[in-house]
Amino acid sequence: MEQMKAAGFPEGFLWGSASAAYQIEGGWQEGGKGVTNWDTFVRIPGKTFKATTGDVAVDHYHRYKEDIALMAEMGLKTYRFSISWARIYPEGKGKVNEEGVAFYQNIIDECLKYRIEPMVTIYHWDLPQALVDAYQGWESPQIIDDFVNYAKTLFTRFGDKVKYWITLNEQNIFTSLGWLTAQHPPGKFDDQKMFYQVNHHAFMAHAKTVLAYREMGGKGEIGASFAYTPSYALDCKPINAMAKANYDDLKNYWWMDVYAYGRYPIAALTYLRKKGFAPDMAEGDEEILRKAAKEITFMGVNYYQSCVCEYNPIDGVTPYGTMNTSGVKGSAQEVGIQGIYKNPANPYLLTTDWDWSIDPSGLWFCCREITSRYGLPIIISENGLGAFDKKTEKNEIHDEYRICYLKEHIKALGEAIEEGCQVLAYCTWSFTDLLSWLNGYQKRYGFVYVDREEEEGGTLNRYKKDSFYWYQNVIRTNGVEL
Ligand code: NOJ
Repeated sequence: MEQMKAAGFPEGFLWGSASAAYQIEGGWQEGGKGVTNWDTFVRIPGKTFKATTGDVAVDHYHRYKEDIALMAEMGLKTYRFSISWARIYPEGKGKVNEEGVAFYQNIIDECLKYRIEPMVTIYHWDLPQALVDAYQGWESPQIIDDFVNYAKTLFTRFGDKVKYWITLNEQNIFTSLGWLTAQHPPGKFDDQKMFYQVNHHAFMAHAKTVLAYREMGGKGEIGASFAYTPSYALDCKPINAMAKANYDDLKNYWWMDVYAYGRYPIAALTYLRKKGFAPDMAEGDEEILRKAAKEITFMGVNYYQSCVCEYNPIDGVTPYGTMNTSGVKGSAQEVGIQGIYKNPANPYLLTTDWDWSIDPSGLWFCCREITSRYGLPIIISENGLGAFDKKTEKNEIHDEYRICYLKEHIKALGEAIEEGCQVLAYCTWSFTDLLSWLNGYQKRYGFVYVDREEEEGGTLNRYKKDSFYWYQNVIRTNGVEL
């Protein structure tokens, strides 16, 4: 394979890979775990591809030792995984489930045995159903205290061994898909007011968790992981540049500014106030957000694609136009959730099997933006390619396309580092194949193929893909050989 030099990755750089509890564990009714919102949601007919559930997933619950041994064989420096709230608190609060604590303690110890740095995501979308039943989960401010209580339990039990904490995974995505596009639980469509309210609760849960960590003496790294989709204006027409500014304020800075500065972008907030969509804030919230912003030590970035922004002629007014999607053909997504920009395809980029644009330089832009705007170190907490992999009769998986994708993104990351961005870690999504929330097991991301089909079954055996050996060498050479 052609060798390429990446720009210098620092000594001790954390080459990693990531997963999420619901997508890999299975064991949905084992070890005292409570039912989650996802356990409930996937049982609603028509919600997932071939009605796939995470009941078994890739059975990491029983095979974590085998999986972590494979990580060690690869030479992984960090493993990012999430903890299922309902394993720790089956009812969301109340009595701790010691079996759940022991399960994660084992995972952490297994990582440390191989000198793999555990990086823990506190919340990767699976919420105890009991809290939905009690007060509609994220829709109520009651969730803030319950979340902080859960997080504090993790700090108490695992804080001596875990030095990297991610509070929330892709708050922007789970709230958008949950309250705007109805694809994820609770399956609500275009509920703008609640969308911003839910986000405010999530920001408060994040902020109070960060502050609690420091109050408890936590000295490690803590921050949130954001699904960052950088944008390009369609062209130099000022109205398209404005569409990009609108998009960035409402789709990117709305989250990152709160994590990093503890305040909402002013123009976007003004617009949402006019629309009646701005969140209600309790007294003192803004101060808490500002305090917590000073305590985070990195911005977590999940990067998959970039987008193009074009003025959306269904609105007349700038800077944010008027929300009017009525009479427009296509989904709310196509016309832009806010109805003030649209996101046409980028003719200069190839796309994945799922029509996601492939744009390594987008990762570079993300890093520059975070460095210039926030001055924060960066953890790339996810980056990867979902594809229809095929296992040959010899049990080989030739995923050259994944190698190519990752290689180009790592090169771009190296360039960002050369320019002065401080990047602490790079985690691919994912280590083993796993359940793709809505797409079953057909959309594969891993270095390790799992014999698993949508219908229950498959041997669940693990097979190393070509990309496994390639990434092993990337790690061994600290990114010099790509
Ligand atoms: C981001 C999410 O964090 C993860 O759960 C998901 O599977 C990947 N994106 C791929 O869509």
